[in-house]
Amino acid sequence: MAERVRVAVLVSGRGSNMVALAEHKRRDPSRSYDLALIASNVPEARGLVVAKRFGIKTWAKSHKGMSREDFDAELDAALRAHDIELVALAGYMRLLSPGFVDAWQDRLLNIHPSLLPAHRGLDTHRRALMAGDEFAGCSVHLVTAELDAGPVLAQERVRILPRDDADSLAARVLEAEHRLYPAALEAYCVFISGASSPRLPDRS
Ligand code: GRF
Repeated sequence: MAERVRVAVLVSGRGSNMVALAEHKRRDPSRSYDLALIASNVPEARGLVVAKRFGIKTWAKSHKGMSREDFDAELDAALRAHDIELVALAGYMRLLSPGFVDAWQDRLLNIHPSLLPAHRGLDTHRRALMAGDEFAGCSVHLVTAELDAGPVLAQERVRILPRDDADSLAARVLEAEHRLYPAALEAYCVFISGASSPRLPDRS
């Protein structure tokens, strides 16, 4: 593996989490990851415009009219063509095919705006309010075949205030996401590149 982990970020929309990852790297180029590619299933996604401003390579193709498997095969080919080692989903609004998830097992991260396992899927903030939760928050997790059910790597809690509605809560959780994702990605890249992985005692 290269000294720095080559990361692709997958976006479908505004890409604010991708920007947080890029800013984190820009502030300290010695980070353990390089953002080598921003890829999208939405060619007009705002995140792609911003990625270009950061000077990061982009790849985009509309999934419309394609089967999930065919689209993911093209995405996979683009990732491999750019020597990507780790994929970070950041507002990627398309379910991935089982074959893709399998091929990228342990190399596929996502950020989800709830304290998993609570509130998987969409509309998390409204559901947290409806449930009367004391805390909302965000989770970075490994992606597995089941939606938002993979092992959680990191979480940040956000207290729900009496005056909160879904929008105000979403805004505060998003600020937490922008702190959590760069820190979690950095830690995971250090871990997989072996720099700080625990060594077993030598029993010979
Ligand atoms: C974030 O809330 C993220 O947790 C969820 O989708 C949203 C993407 O926002 N998966 P952005 O595109 O990163 O601004």
